[in-house]
Amino acid sequence: MKNKLEEIRAKSLAAIEEALDPGALDAVRVQYLGKKGSLSAVLKQLGSVSPEERPAMGQLANEVRAKIEAALNERGKALQDALLERKLREETLDVTIPGKSVETGAKHPLQIVWDECVDIFVGMGFQVAEGPEVELSTYDFDKLNIPEGHTVREWTDTFYITEDEKVHLRCQTSPVQVRVMEQQKPPIRIISPGRVYRKDEIDATHSPMFHQLEGLVVDKGITMGDLKGCLDVMLKRLYGPETVTRFRPHHFPFTEPSCEVDIQCFECHGAGCRVCKGEGWIELLGAGMVHPKVLSGCGIDPDEYSGFAFGVGLERLVMRRFSISDLRLLFDNDVRFLRQFS
Ligand code: PHE
Repeated sequence: MKNKLEEIRAKSLAAIEEALDPGALDAVRVQYLGKKGSLSAVLKQLGSVSPEERPAMGQLANEVRAKIEAALNERGKALQDALLERKLREETLDVTIPGKSVETGAKHPLQIVWDECVDIFVGMGFQVAEGPEVELSTYDFDKLNIPEGHTVREWTDTFYITEDEKVHLRCQTSPVQVRVMEQQKPPIRIISPGRVYRKDEIDATHSPMFHQLEGLVVDKGITMGDLKGCLDVMLKRLYGPETVTRFRPHHFPFTEPSCEVDIQCFECHGAGCRVCKGEGWIELLGAGMVHPKVLSGCGIDPDEYSGFAFGVGLERLVMRRFSISDLRLLFDNDVRFLRQFS
């Protein structure tokens, strides 16, 4: 029996040393210490040992059990430690590795001026209104008092979408005025920036797609003085407090009276130079008092209300603002150009 116990001790200790993972170790435990394990099998024979030898055998069996248990614990702990060690090694995160840098772009110069204009007008209590770029001729022409036969209605000027000339790419932002006046009753104060389309040849100052910013104010007692004050504020905010503005009579079918607004040339201060082509002034935008026909066409009584409107080409504002001499730069998407605005 003594030999048997010693054999169990030797074999189990060797098996414990060889167990490479907790599962294998547990199998060893069951094999030697389990209810049906080798040690139990030997202990069952203790009854057949002579009474003199029995205590010594019992003691030896206990020693063997204790030894095996201690070895199992020790090996188990070692395996756990190794496992943790490996996990730590495999899952390490090197916080010192430099991160991937995300390149931030720059606001497009058009967007810069667009946002500035919105800020200026929102500061004066205006709301931003939007309208469709694919527009009905009713809104872009008829309700703006632009008669049949007017040159802008020609196929050579306007991108028609339908053969019957009822739908086209809007050639101005002014139809937004009509859409707003049909929906809202005065007081109205809106601006509407957006894309417009005309069949122009591309050159340094023309593009078949460009941007306008429309403005509209309708209320009781609105006068040309309000129009002048409002535009004066806008241009001074955009170009600096020394900016000098000039209002010149003009004609638009949807405003009466109408005017064009110039700023004094910042280069020659009115004397005439290359920048202003000898004029001393630079033309910037169209404006006027909303035509009574347009008001009444939208259900607003022109005897009770009056209003002013203006429409300004954003590209022109941008080019003046950043001294850009060729409009095409704004649409070429050359990052070397665009990066300068970051
Ligand atoms: N829509 C006109 C244009 O495109 C500009 C304008 C707007 C003029 C509002 C007067 C009033 O030229």
